[in-house]
Amino acid sequence: MIRVLEQERTFHLVTAHTSMVLHAMPSGHLVSLYWGGRIEDDAFSRIAKDMKKASYLSGTDGIRDFRLEQYPVLYPSWGNPDLRKPAFQFSYEDGSQMTDLRFFGYRQYQGKKKLEGLPTVLHDNAECLELILKDSLTGVKVTLTFGVFEAWDAITQSVRVTNGNHGDIQIQRLMSGCFSFLDDQFDAISLNGAWARECHENRQKIRQGSFCVESLRGASGHGQNPFLALAEPGAEEDKGNVWAMNLVYSGSFEASVEVDMHQNTRFMMGIQSFSFSWGLKKGESFVSPEVVMIHSGEGLGAMSRSFHRLYRDCLLQGAYAGRTGRKRPILINNWEATYFDFDKKKLLELADEAVKLGMECFVLDDGWFGKRNSDENSLGDWTENREKLGGSLLELAEEIRRRGLSFGLWFEPEMVSPDSDLYRSHPEWAIQVPGRSPQLARNQLVLDISCKEVQDYIIESVDRILKTVPVSYVKWDMNRNITEWNSCFLQRDQQKELGHRYILGLYRILEELTGRYKDVLFEGCAGGGGRFDPGMLFYMPQIWTSDDTDAVERLDIQFGTSYVYPPVAMGCHVSACPNHMTERLTPLFTRGLVAMQGNLGYELDLTSLGEEEKKEIHRQTEFYKQIREIIWYGELYRLKKEGNERAFLYLSEDGSRGVVSFVQILAKANTVPKRLKLKGLDPKAFYRVERVGEDKSMVVHGSFLMNLGLDLDRPKGDFQGQQWLLSREEKPYACHTGE
Ligand code: DGJ
Repeated sequence: MIRVLEQERTFHLVTAHTSMVLHAMPSGHLVSLYWGGRIEDDAFSRIAKDMKKASYLSGTDGIRDFRLEQYPVLYPSWGNPDLRKPAFQFSYEDGSQMTDLRFFGYRQYQGKKKLEGLPTVLHDNAECLELILKDSLTGVKVTLTFGVFEAWDAITQSVRVTNGNHGDIQIQRLMSGCFSFLDDQFDAISLNGAWARECHENRQKIRQGSFCVESLRGASGHGQNPFLALAEPGAEEDKGNVWAMNLVYSGSFEASVEVDMHQNTRFMMGIQSFSFSWGLKKGESFVSPEVVMIHSGEGLGAMSRSFHRLYRDCLLQGAYAGRTGRKRPILINNWEATYFDFDKKKLLELADEAVKLGMECFVLDDGWFGKRNSDENSLGDWTENREKLGGSLLELAEEIRRRGLSFGLWFEPEMVSPDSDLYRSHPEWAIQVPGRSPQLARNQLVLDISCKEVQDYIIESVDRILKTVPVSYVKWDMNRNITEWNSCFLQRDQQKELGHRYILGLYRILEELTGRYKDVLFEGCAGGGGRFDPGMLFYMPQIWTSDDTDAVERLDIQFGTSYVYPPVAMGCHVSACPNHMTERLTPLFTRGLVAMQGNLGYELDLTSLGEEEKKEIHRQTEFYKQIREIIWYGELYRLKKEGNERAFLYLSEDGSRGVVSFVQILAKANTVPKRLKLKGLDPKAFYRVERVGEDKSMVVHGSFLMNLGLDLDRPKGDFQGQQWLLSREEKPYACHTGE
């Protein structure tokens, strides 16, 4: 709901549990008055007047004691008396860099429109508020658009800049969202790591000065996710205030927090500024990607559940989105089973085993095209390697389908190998600096998809295959970041537009292909989670979480990813032991339990397994088929996330069914297993609790499970998992029956 207090020029954005209050001061400067737990009334008129002033700050508009720097300016500019880091900066033809935005008007409407060329969080039930600001000298107009997703407890913001009556302007910085707090008692929580170690929680106290999380890689990146949260001291999984931002964008980004001289905090997120600039001619507009802002008064768990609900309902698109959407298949992917070393016989043997073990889709990974038998060549040449495939791709797909599996295929369309026909005919299509030897990563270069001709080539190459081969799943990979930022297709003064133009080009390609192939399930991948962001999720409702398939490593990677992204969006596979990266030996039961945190798949040589292992995998796929809708559409409660134990509970939407999983990482001598307390249950309801893999069950109250908890076994060895199924019993035939 949006409540406009016309007289006071105050805007109250209300969601189920939160309020955000914005206000246009008499001077026309916009300020943020509040963001936090929901406030029922609108008595905000005094707040701005009550703000106390500090000394030695510049005055504003010649008004006595009016010091802009002391105010929580909503969308601060550079050059004004507010000398903290601005949310935007434009430079004008005369060389000046100052913009003085003042409130000009507002517009309110029902429903949220798609941002042109950009992924967007959408729903007809969202309400929008546009706050229009103008600079009277240059005529530049800046429109801040807020989307209020009341039922989802979320607010989005994007920014449109329109060049007015001035000459050309250059946008040098443009944050999508900015919020200022009159307080500095926060911890910053970000998701950091590296390739194969994505999304580990990183928490630190902020102090006077700046803290920044950013990517200059041309992708959101493995090392940092476009997510940043501020948490009040003591806020934890289930308690305390948390304010989070997540950028719906897949390129270089920045998220920053600045604590100023007077213990105020400014929190911003948007496209990375150092590597960005955009020219706007008279009358032209530029729209920023949008940022999602979520406040939780009940800790990080509730924050995550709000992100999950919002993204499931309003971000994921296409046939596989939402409860009524298609069911995602359990995959067998041949990558860790064969790497590049396969032939038709091997693939069909794998497929035969996969069917027997309950899998539903066969994914042919890298190595099926050109002359590719290693990562040294052929990217860009998207024609099947008939010799290696023992016939056409179509024949292979049909043989797989005859076995009862759907067929999936890997592509890496944004890349080109120097050893490829494509590169030989179009070297200028690669991003590189003429005269300098190109720097390779994984033996490949990045195609310049800022150029429409290159975009069209990619669309047509992928389309040609999808048109002729019955592919129902596409894994869209991207295995290196951009270096040597330079485009042969852009003018000298446009080179800093390359990063954003690349992403706009990518979105156009994805819009086109996902529009043409609505029934295909697209899975995003960038060497694992190198581009796990809401921008990609808009087009690809599932992302390969990490190239690290070690179950123990995956516990923290998947927990971190689940801070923001719903389990239905995470690709999680069971792989071989010893694990190919860590050499760790983990029980198959635990590997299955961990991969059931998201979309279950298998990525190992099924033909080399013993009978006991096959029996266990068959049990896992059968079990997952019973519970997968709880994982996809239910609520996630992280029960234990530190120390030697991890535990998580998925509860179905109506609360009637649940799955509890527990892993003790290392066995410890002479320790006594404690009980595992659950969350989110109805204290008065009865639940049947069945221990997975054992013929044991009991019926107890939710209050029992939440206060006393489940009995844990003493683990026999390292990395042991335990799992339970919960189902609400309407009329229990017996109360606590014991275990
Ligand atoms: C990186 C991906 O993350 C892997 O799963 C696999 O598809 C390889 N690329 C193939 O080259």
